[in-house]
Amino acid sequence: MRKRMIAGNWKMNKTFSEAVVLAEGLARELEGGTGDVDVVVAPPTINLKGVAEVIEKEEAPFALSAQNAYWQESGAYTGETAPNMLEAVGATHCIIGHSERRDYFGETDEDINKKAKALMAHGIVPISCCGESLDIREAGTHVAFVVDQIKKDTAGLEITDPSKYVIAYEPIWAIGTGKTATADDAQEVCGAIRATLVEIFGDETAAGIRILYGGSANPSNIAGFLEKEDVDGALVGGASLKADGFADMVRSAMA
Ligand code: PGA
Repeated sequence: MRKRMIAGNWKMNKTFSEAVVLAEGLARELEGGTGDVDVVVAPPTINLKGVAEVIEKEEAPFALSAQNAYWQESGAYTGETAPNMLEAVGATHCIIGHSERRDYFGETDEDINKKAKALMAHGIVPISCCGESLDIREAGTHVAFVVDQIKKDTAGLEITDPSKYVIAYEPIWAIGTGKTATADDAQEVCGAIRATLVEIFGDETAAGIRILYGGSANPSNIAGFLEKEDVDGALVGGASLKADGFADMVRSAMA
């Protein structure tokens, strides 16, 4: 069945040397292994290589993720990073469609869909984010909104190995605000996402795709989310910037 995943999104935090120190700290915290839990860290692009070197040197039990990628293979796209460049520095995962990218950089579901296809063509696991704003939540249309995002984000994807496509449900009103959704709120939407995946890909594939919760997840609240049937882990922002706290979250998922 589905292995749990705990992924740390470092966002635009940590210089190169600070990222190396954080990765080394996490390698020490997790030196006993992570059992059945897949652990992933997503440093800023410029720090990927440094963290990859720590993972290799320390034989650290976590995988490397980028926070974004472009869908073209190469060319005149100033400031962008192609999937093969991520692959070349050891990134095996890539967050796409984070609400910060949608809100501040105008990314659309169509962009996110193209990114997923480009990454999967290189064997990189997308961690594809979805989630509603406070307005939508208050209007009570959040389930329909997220289901629509999922349909657009996955349009035409060929998922042969469901462990290699991950979804993160992140209600925008709970990101970085200290305001968490309840575990029941998370299950309501994650359950609807699973039902949508069944419609699109069939039972077997849908049962193998991990759905993470994200939004002010921390060492004290993670256990409650993980109890829910369709919550397979967490995408952690703020609380992933401290090695000990993030390792505690991994240990909660191992329990
Ligand atoms: P947060 O961020 O845990 O700081 O709320 C989660 C995310 O945006 O991925």
